[in-house]
Amino acid sequence: MQTIRIEKTLCPKEKPGKDNPLTFGTIFTDHMFEVDYEEGKGWYDPRIVPYHSLALDPSAMVFHYGQTMFEGLKAYKAEDGRVLLFRPDKNWERANRSNARLCIPEIPKDLFMEGLKQVVEIDKDWIPTKSGTSLYIRPFVIATDPFLGVRPSHTYKFMIILSPVGAYYESGLNPVKIWIEDEYVRAVKGGIGEAKTGGNYAASLASQVKAHEEGYAQVLWLDGIHRKYIEEVGAMNIFFKINGVVITPQLNGSILPGVTRDSAIALCKEWGIPVEERRISVDEILEAARTGAMEECFGTGTAAVVSPVGELRYENEIMSIGNNQIGAVTQKIYDTITGIQLGKVEGPKGWSVEVK
Ligand code: COI
Repeated sequence: MQTIRIEKTLCPKEKPGKDNPLTFGTIFTDHMFEVDYEEGKGWYDPRIVPYHSLALDPSAMVFHYGQTMFEGLKAYKAEDGRVLLFRPDKNWERANRSNARLCIPEIPKDLFMEGLKQVVEIDKDWIPTKSGTSLYIRPFVIATDPFLGVRPSHTYKFMIILSPVGAYYESGLNPVKIWIEDEYVRAVKGGIGEAKTGGNYAASLASQVKAHEEGYAQVLWLDGIHRKYIEEVGAMNIFFKINGVVITPQLNGSILPGVTRDSAIALCKEWGIPVEERRISVDEILEAARTGAMEECFGTGTAAVVSPVGELRYENEIMSIGNNQIGAVTQKIYDTITGIQLGKVEGPKGWSVEVK
């Protein structure tokens, strides 16, 4: 592993005050991690440098063909001052699965982990401590070849930036309203739906705008072939509790394999709550909501953590869930995951990684 060069800022920025409510993703810390890649040379010159704008050729391939990968995870400060990351190895694994799908070179584990830990350590005073806040970490790769032909780039940049954040949704832990999309689709099996890459999010914008105009926070996608089976919310994976069973769509190639999704499933299993990963149709959801069998619905994601869903809308039918209150299982998963993240609850081995 090459030594990471460190160049500290000479002009530290003013940090947000303790009472700043912190919206999601608007403030960035003093430093960033950066490393370049060139075919035949590999990843070179890893460095932590002052947060800065990039100078890229307008023909850089990322701008034209979207060859890019991103990840999301969070750092927390425990009451005893320890800085904790939640399951960062899962982000590294997924980053390289996305990279493989997008013909981006693999990032070695020690480079990913050392870059991550060292930049968080340098900017650890930026980790907010108010309830519901954390330091959001965004690792990402861009293709940098100045070239307009379509092929994988020969050069890349991998960067990690940090942002102190509050709740992803304005409503915080209050139930959100979700629009089940029946016009557009996000991804199809064989496409790039299971990769964490910009194109999936670009594909979601038109329906997100439509949903927002109707007063809905997010869009729930149906599968791209039958337009019938539940997939994910884009910024979250989705779970339903129907007649005592927690159900989430199985990973099928077009759904993002969420780290929080995986954690929620593992916790339900540990608690003996029946949990199923399977195909679930929108008709089954409608029926469960109509008959009262739908007890809870929630989304999971790094940014959103665990977010209760109080209302689903499909075509002209509005389904109200759990009297618009957070359900008991949703609350338990939220409390446990945030407890582990903050070092208050002991989680399964390896879930909490200290930065030191
Ligand atoms: C995350 O939860 O970290 C994500 O990457 C979702 C993003 C759209 C905010």
